Amino acid sequence: MREFYILLLFVVAGSFYILFFGENFYSSSQELTVKKELLPKRNIYYLKTHKTGSTTMLNMIFRLAIKEELKIGFPKLKLKGRTNYICKHVPFKPSCIDEVQYNVIANHHVWSPEIDRVLPNATKITILREPISQFVSAFEYFGKSVFGFDGKSPTAAALEKYIERTSPSLSEINNQSTKNKKARIAENTQNPMAFDLGLSYMYKTKTEDDLGEWLVDYYDLVMITEYFDESLILLKELMKLEFTDIVYLKSNSNKKKKFSEDNLSKETKARLYYRERVDDALYKHANRTLWKKIEKFGHEKMKQEVKQLQIHCDNIVDDHFMRLGEWEAMAYMRKLQEDY
Ligand SMILES: *[C@@H]1O[C@H](CO)[C@@H](O)[C@H](O)[C@H]1NC(C)=O
Ligand SMILES: *[C@@H]1O[C@H](CO)[C@@H](O)[C@H](O)[C@H]1NC(C)=O
Ligand SMILES: *[C@@H]1O[C@H](CO)[C@@H](O)[C@H](O)[C@H]1NC(C)=O
Ligand SMILES: *[C@@H]1O[C@H](CO)[C@@H](O)[C@H](O)[C@H]1NC(C)=O
Repeated sequence: MREFYILLLFVVAGSFYILFFGENFYSSSQELTVKKELLPKRNIYYLKTHKTGSTTMLNMIFRLAIKEELKIGFPKLKLKGRTNYICKHVPFKPSCIDEVQYNVIANHHVWSPEIDRVLPNATKITILREPISQFVSAFEYFGKSVFGFDGKSPTAAALEKYIERTSPSLSEINNQSTKNKKARIAENTQNPMAFDLGLSYMYKTKTEDDLGEWLVDYYDLVMITEYFDESLILLKELMKLEFTDIVYLKSNSNKKKKFSEDNLSKETKARLYYRERVDDALYKHANRTLWKKIEKFGHEKMKQEVKQLQIHCDNIVDDHFMRLGEWEAMAYMRKLQEDY
């Protein structure tokens, strides 16, 4: 018994010694490693949709990962050659990522419930764009190989013909017996945002509006391309970021844009909205939720902060990392992460 008390005394005294003289006890570099490991890392989940301004966001998240030393889960290198996709064409599985533990998922993939298991308590964000505008951009970007239109280049006329050929006519749309008919969800070509968001399966038993409600509930923030700056201010608020974290280069979007949704006929647009009705419902829910958040934040305060953000963007000194495209940024990050 006496030995026990003597031992206890040593343990208690030892603890006090470490507590009060700990700074000298450890060498400073050791202390730094200890502290780094203790620092809680935040988990970030970013669902990267196509043709929505999402690459600008990817760059931003990579910058944040550098700043906070967060580890990114990248697409597996050896699975099917070099890819920028985690599990191409199929919903997310942990085996599509090389790293065992990571804090961030941000590269292209299709959502699955597995995400909640590999990134517990993550801040979850995604971005949606007005579906017709998204469709036009995808049509121009993916071109003939994906959309299979006649002729060489993606013109407004080619898009109209494509819709004529592949989509229900106005009379079919207005036919009562086709009401409540399920839309197709297909990678890149039809309701592509719903595809990326992994909603194909859920859509079998839910309505478009159910999916919209699920979306705005599941994600902490659904950004909207048309209100990119406002979305960024809300992101800054949500994640306690600084202006320097959310600045971006404005010049790199849609340089090659040949035509826009304004070049499409009323009929084509109506047919497109019907065809893309899942994405349209998602977008409407997300936009409504975004504006509720802006309202809560304060319209005047939002105006001021957007102005400040634009000043920050205008004053970016030549930033090499920001100029990197998706592939180069990813290569840079992979290399950097080898040293973690
Ligand atoms: C997630 O957050 C909850 C509530 O804040 C907490 O109880 C739990 O331990 C966290 N889990 C992880 C894995 O961080
Ligand atoms: C509506 O669709 C049904 C089923 O496809 C078809 O039998 C009917 O003729 C259509 N009605 C009109 C007015 O086109
Ligand atoms: C698209 O519309 C714009 C303005 O409405 C017009 O200036 C442009 O020539 C049109 N482009 C095509 C390809 O029709
Ligand atoms: C988004 O919602 C706001 C507020 O309700 C509305 O004014 C705006 O037109 C919507 N934007 C789009 C592109 O639908």
